[in-house]
Amino acid sequence: MFIESVELKNYRNYEDLSLNFTSDKVLLIGKNAQGKTNLLESLYYTSSLHSNRAKSDSELILWGKDFTRIKTVINKNDLEKELEIIINPPKRKELKVNGVKKNKSSEFCTNLSIVSFSVNDLLLLRGVPDDRRDWLDMAISQIYPAYSDRVLKYNKIRIQKNNYLKEIKGNIHADTSLLDVFNTQLSVCGSNIILLRLKFLKEMQKKAMEKHLQIAQEEILTTSYNSTICGDIDFSGEQNFTAEDIVQQFENKLSEKKLEEIIRGQSIAGPHRDDVSFFINGIEAKKFASQGQQRTIVLSFKLAELELIKEKIQDTPVLLLDDVLAELDKIRQNYLLNAIGPNTQTIITSVDTLHFDKEYLKDVEIFKISEGKLVL
Ligand SMILES: Nc1ncnc2c1ncn2[C@@H]1O[C@H](COP(=O)(O)OP(=O)(O)OP(=O)(O)O)[C@@H](O)[C@H]1O
Ligand SMILES: [Mg+2]
Repeated sequence: MFIESVELKNYRNYEDLSLNFTSDKVLLIGKNAQGKTNLLESLYYTSSLHSNRAKSDSELILWGKDFTRIKTVINKNDLEKELEIIINPPKRKELKVNGVKKNKSSEFCTNLSIVSFSVNDLLLLRGVPDDRRDWLDMAISQIYPAYSDRVLKYNKIRIQKNNYLKEIKGNIHADTSLLDVFNTQLSVCGSNIILLRLKFLKEMQKKAMEKHLQIAQEEILTTSYNSTICGDIDFSGEQNFTAEDIVQQFENKLSEKKLEEIIRGQSIAGPHRDDVSFFINGIEAKKFASQGQQRTIVLSFKLAELELIKEKIQDTPVLLLDDVLAELDKIRQNYLLNAIGPNTQTIITSVDTLHFDKEYLKDVEIFKISEGKLVL
């Protein structure tokens, strides 16, 4: 998969930008605060309809303007597709593929696949459980497109349940028949989410462990899924959870927690409360890993993600690397650049070209960005 061009109108600090990419290796060079990350963000947004750093879509619009447009042309199996997004609040955002409107986000998001690695991704280890769930949700929906619909549905029911719990908060004699209906619906929908997360993490752990061993010899990377429904699950042996098993455990857990939920007025168990832990040689990375080790874990997971998506979609996602080379020592930098297979379009941002070895710079296409404009 290849991004051939991008056009931005009123996107962040870009009033009008038009770029054509002709190489697999692209470098965006510019001083701090010129718009390098903004440009990568617009591509990431096109793949997922979600920004990896904005809380709301209106943040993406150039200050003082009322809309923004991102238009990209991608090439997938020799077929060109034009993807267009118009954000114009409070209207619903407009999505078009080859000029045809799409109403469902999931239909739009299947077009462009991106794996992105930035300093922000270190939140995978250093952040709060919410950050890790966001990562899981984003990564899994790239591989199983139906996943995001399930998350949306689960959250919709959960919000209804929460509203009801707030109404009856503290009233242990309240009629709970409506709560039982919500719990049954959540058990069915939520267990699907858990099942896909387990499947994803199992595959990722295998690949990430291999990548990690190549960069950091003798350091074994493992993962566990910390479920508020099924407990802590590691991926060392064969575990064969079925959807029915999880639905059953889900229903049991929600009945067990029912009284506590009424007293607290909120839903306290389910995939929206689950977390993931990472270990190096059995020791929890969040608490004990050094900065370099943490980066290496995230890097291994990104490379694993790239490989997994490649297998699932039978195509190579575009790789975005935002300022991460400067953060890695030479050995890890070279490993990263070499580990990116051929035919992987890679767009890298950096303040200069000093970090790249000559071999890599040979067939690279370089764009200089300054104050939201291309410098020719
Ligand atoms: N909605 C917006 N409208 C106008 N300008 C914005 C908007 N959002 C962000 N900016 C500005 O865009 C500028 C460039 O940001 P960006 O993060 O892309 O820089 P960068 O080139 O990646 O810099 P660095 O090398 O420091 O990472 C910032 O100075 C920021 O103030
Ligand atoms: Mg930046």
